[in-house]
Amino acid sequence: MSSFSGLGVRLQAIFSLVVEQQKKDPYTTIWDCCCDHGYLGLKFLSENLCEKVIFVDQVPHIIEQLKPRLDGFNSDQYELIAADASELSFSRQKRHLLIIAGVGGECTVDIISAIEGNNPGVHIDYIFCPSTSQKELRKYLMAKNFGVAFESIVCENKRYYEMLYVKNRAAADELPCVSETCTAWDENDAGHQQYLSKLALHERKKNSAGKL
Ligand SMILES: C[S@@+](CC[C@H](N)C(=O)[O-])C[C@H]1O[C@@H](n2cnc3c(N)ncnc32)[C@H](O)[C@@H]1O
Repeated sequence: MSSFSGLGVRLQAIFSLVVEQQKKDPYTTIWDCCCDHGYLGLKFLSENLCEKVIFVDQVPHIIEQLKPRLDGFNSDQYELIAADASELSFSRQKRHLLIIAGVGGECTVDIISAIEGNNPGVHIDYIFCPSTSQKELRKYLMAKNFGVAFESIVCENKRYYEMLYVKNRAAADELPCVSETCTAWDENDAGHQQYLSKLALHERKKNSAGKL
């Protein structure tokens, strides 16, 4: 279980990636989208990683519960938004990093397709760590020509997660395209291979159910 000061393996992997990016080419605004407990955003704030951290969740009482945890921080440093993430709008003057973790791939696609459609020309890069349906997310990103800045596999509580840091084509000419399967799966890792077999079986069942 995560706590505010000690993130779990999955959120820690995202956090470490963001720390590296902020050293090289910092984002002004980091969005902890679908934040729930807000551990990730709180950690960004406590490490003073960017100008502003924005917490977003569609459940109003989740956002209410976050308020007292932000007491020690300057109110210029953060914002709380209780809304569906697909309705967000973004300042053109800022560089945005939007993190969507812990929701399914289909839900992630719904959110980013709306955001990209509603905010043309805004600089938004994304870190995704979907809980399910990674393939659906990858298919969308491939179709929209996103480039991969980094990807890895994270194992937490015996579950494997793909973490994917992407930029849209306008910002990512030199980057490889997103592929249908994560390049970080290791063919010599028995745990990885078992998990991939399970996923393939699930995919086959889903496809044959769709044909009925
Ligand atoms: C399992 S929690 C993930 C928490 C955290 N991001 C993590 O990875 O540990 C999923 C959260 O996403 C929120 N959520 C789901 N769809 C959303 C949407 N379209 N817009 C905003 N929040 C959403 C839910 O309310 C829930 O609090």
